[in-house]
Parts: sequence; structure tokens; C-alpha cells
Amino acid sequence: MNPIYETADARVRAVTIRPAHAADLDAVLAIRNHAIEHGTALWTDTPQSRDEGAAWLAAHLARGSAYVAECAASVVGFGVYGPWKDYSGFRHTVENSVYVAEGQHGRGIGAALLGTLITSAEAAGLHVMIAGIESGNAASVRLHERHGFEHAGTVREVGTKFGRWLDLTLMRRQLG
Ligand SMILES: CC(C)(COP(=O)(O)OP(=O)(O)OC[C@H]1O[C@@H](n2cnc3c(N)ncnc32)[C@H](O)[C@@H]1OP(=O)(O)O)[C@@H](O)C(=O)NCCC(=O)NCCS
Repeated sequence: MNPIYETADARVRAVTIRPAHAADLDAVLAIRNHAIEHGTALWTDTPQSRDEGAAWLAAHLARGSAYVAECAASVVGFGVYGPWKDYSGFRHTVENSVYVAEGQHGRGIGAALLGTLITSAEAAGLHVMIAGIESGNAASVRLHERHGFEHAGTVREVGTKFGRWLDLTLMRRQLG
């Protein structure tokens, strides 16, 4: 299979970014539920069931807005984008999510996934991409800065997890 995103970064030469398939569900769900259980990127304590995950992934597959990173035949990360808000006036704006499997961070996989999401959203004619990031998530803030996202503001203490308040940093990138 041909990679759809090529990178000169030696750390990620063995990684292929490709559109997700329905068969990726279990691998994607494992990465997503690990993030729910152990981190503050997703502000819920409830792991996603297989049925919920299947519906979520199917919506992305229908739009062509889900990609996975594959290394040695294993899915080591995924990225998606979808509607930021449901009202029709927001239809040209999407929000992204990028998750890399524990143990694979810092190899450039997140960067390869986010680059693919931006290219895909631009090809789809979308106008703006938003990221909503827990303010203490230095890796994600850096990742988005490196891909041309600007800081659009921080909303303090709008979330809670693990017994503390969480701040939300919004970042914005013009597409096209
Ligand atoms: C955030 C995440 C997607 C980044 O993916 P990654 O593959 O680890 O990141 P990359 O290796 O592509 O690095 C991207 C940039 O962030 C930097 N970075 C990586 N880890 C970092 C850290 N802990 N602190 C600060 N910067 C960091 C890298 O140096 C790189 O910047 P550079 O290009 O200037 O060198 C990944 O860490 C992850 O899955 N985290 C858990 C889930 C999550 O937080 N998702 C984002 C939700 S908004």
C-alpha cells in the first residue's frame, strides 16, 4: 500500500499513514480507551464500548475523515476530523483529534497524522480546523504550533478529571 503522506523525518520512515478501515476498530478503540483511562486528552472517565466506537468510526469513514498510522502491520495511532458544531453555519469548520499509542510518542507519528488531516481537510474544501487541547498538554500544543495553528484563547476550568479542574486551549488553523 502506498503511503498517502510522505515525510523526510527518519523517525517515521517505517510508518505509513493511510485511510482508516472498519477493520481498524479494535486497534483504534484500544488507543482511544487507553487515553480515556490514563490521560486528560479526553474529558470522560467512561471507556467507549465497541458499539459506540463502531458508530463513531463509521461516521468518519462515511466522510473520509479518519486515518491511521501503521507500523509493522500494527496500528500505532489515528487521526480524525469532524464537525466542530452541529449548526449549519459552522459547516466549513472542523475539529481534529490525534492519538498515538503509548510507547510510540515522540517519533513524529502525531506530526505525520496531523499533516495528513490538514491535507485531507483542504482537499475537501474546508475552511478552518480547530483543536481543543487540555492546556497542560505540551506535546499537543507544540504539535499544533508546528503545523501552523494559532492560539485562539484559553478557557479556564471548563472541565474536570482526576479530581482537578482542566483548562481548554483552543487553536485554529486556516485551511487552503
Ligand atoms: C499529542 C500526541 C498526539 C503527539 O504525537 P507524537 O507522535 O508523540 O508527537 P511528535 O513526535 O509528532 O512530535 C510533535 C511535536 O511535539 C513535540 N513534543 C513531543 N512530545 C513532547 C512533550 N512531551 N513536550 C513538549 N513537546 C513535545 C515534538 O518535539 C514535536 O515538536 P518539534 O517538531 O518541534 O520537534 C501524542 O503525544 C499523544 O497521542 N498523546 C496522548 C493523546 C493526546 O494528547 N492527543 C491530543 C489531544 S488534543
